[in-house]
Amino acid sequence: MKNLIQIDHPLVKRDLSVLRDRNTPGNLFRAVLRRTSSLLAYEVTRDLALRRRPIRTPLEQTTGYTIAQHIVLVPILRAGLGMVGGFVEVIPDARVGHIGLYRNEETLQPVDYYFKVPRQLGTSVVFVLDPMLATGGSGSAAVQYLKGKGARSIRFVSIVAAPEGVRALRRSHPDIQIYTCALDRTLDKNGYILPGLGDAGDRMFGTNE
Ligand code: PRP
Ligand code: URA
Repeated sequence: MKNLIQIDHPLVKRDLSVLRDRNTPGNLFRAVLRRTSSLLAYEVTRDLALRRRPIRTPLEQTTGYTIAQHIVLVPILRAGLGMVGGFVEVIPDARVGHIGLYRNEETLQPVDYYFKVPRQLGTSVVFVLDPMLATGGSGSAAVQYLKGKGARSIRFVSIVAAPEGVRALRRSHPDIQIYTCALDRTLDKNGYILPGLGDAGDRMFGTNE
């Protein structure tokens, strides 16, 4: 699918299987989501521009590098929070914004309740983090808000995506790059991704019991 990059590294596939497994307990789910996110961070930043900087090794002068642009991570609450730690581990100077959205369970429309993002969005590469891209309503609303705040370079990073959600996000924001570990089959009648991994927020925070 256009604008969609699937990360199918063997380590990611292994971790995704643990996340999908209904018998995986909450503490392991959190740990594996964090580790998968570090692996994803590596893949979704591979084309970032570098700036040269002179450095001295203990032996001589040479050329070193820094990332040329600011990086902003924006998890969609709640489940996106589970991806921040893994990203920050490999991008320690990233700034972090937050977008609070949940889906109305009947209409499946996103309901917003919190926004806080850093100022430099216009000069940053912005990574929106959410494990699930289902109908695409939450993702589209999050991207719309970030564009309204000046973001121009936006990448949406998910763990599993439904074709319906990818199409919806692409339709409303054809300019953004979408990454996922797996493009799943479809949505069920409640808007859950099949085969999916269930309710990521509930599994992470133990609110499903
Ligand atoms: C989940 C998920 C996404 C959204 C995806 O959040 O983390 O944000 O649903 O669905 P969509 O693509 O159809 O909008 P949820 O609504 O369960 O919020 P919560 O984690 O805060 O409970
Ligand atoms: N929200 C979830 O937590 N899981 C899905 O499959 C869809 C939306």
